[in-house]
Amino acid sequence: MVLDRNETRELYRKRARHYDLAVQVFPLFGFNVGRYRRDTIASLRLGSGDLVVELGCGTGLNFEYVQRRIGPRGKIIGVDLTDAMLEVAKARVAGAGWSNVELVQADIAQWNMPREVAGVFSTLALTLVPEYDEVIKTASRALRTGGRLAVFDMKEPEHWPSRLVRLAAWLNKPFGVSLDLAERHPWESIGRYLTEVEFREYYFGALYLCVGEKP
Ligand SMILES: C[S@@+](CC[C@H](N)C(=O)[O-])C[C@H]1O[C@@H](n2cnc3c(N)ncnc32)[C@H](O)[C@@H]1O
Repeated sequence: MVLDRNETRELYRKRARHYDLAVQVFPLFGFNVGRYRRDTIASLRLGSGDLVVELGCGTGLNFEYVQRRIGPRGKIIGVDLTDAMLEVAKARVAGAGWSNVELVQADIAQWNMPREVAGVFSTLALTLVPEYDEVIKTASRALRTGGRLAVFDMKEPEHWPSRLVRLAAWLNKPFGVSLDLAERHPWESIGRYLTEVEFREYYFGALYLCVGEKP
């Protein structure tokens, strides 16, 4: 069953406190989420002083990877629907002493993106948003020339037995994932609005990273 906005927010309000801990369980299943995050940020080809937007930033688990590339002169804008997830992100930012992170509580389908952004990215979030195509279109316009947009997310693995696909969807149900989301293909939107598109699969095709560039 696909969740609506309020249901998604309510779900992540419940998950927020233990989200970072829950994510630490993933590597036990070979789901090397740290590597996927690093690859996603690396694919943006960021430099010192860059402005970066993260869509659906959650508790801010990607921020440290971005900080390593943009340094204190750069800026991260993290946008998320769920206040409780952003509270955890806020504590992370304060704990690390980062003064270059702006956190925004908003629906990314409604949010006005800034202009001349060097990189926009989303990890494990965009497929939850029904208007993902419009979001990618708007984000593509917000990029500066040569700016890049990257999406890392789950997808339906083509070569898995259907029983295993159903099990994977069930295991991810606590995060709002359902088989109904399989028809959402953000990588196709990236191909529509950007160039130099690269697509890479992970975890036997259950995950992907797709990146495109503004010409
Ligand atoms: C699985 S978490 C991923 C968080 C983070 N990106 C990560 O990789 O750990 C999904 C996040 O997407 C956010 N989200 C879902 N729908 C959204 C929307 N329409 N606008 C903004 N954020 C949204 C949720 O609040 C949640 O924090």
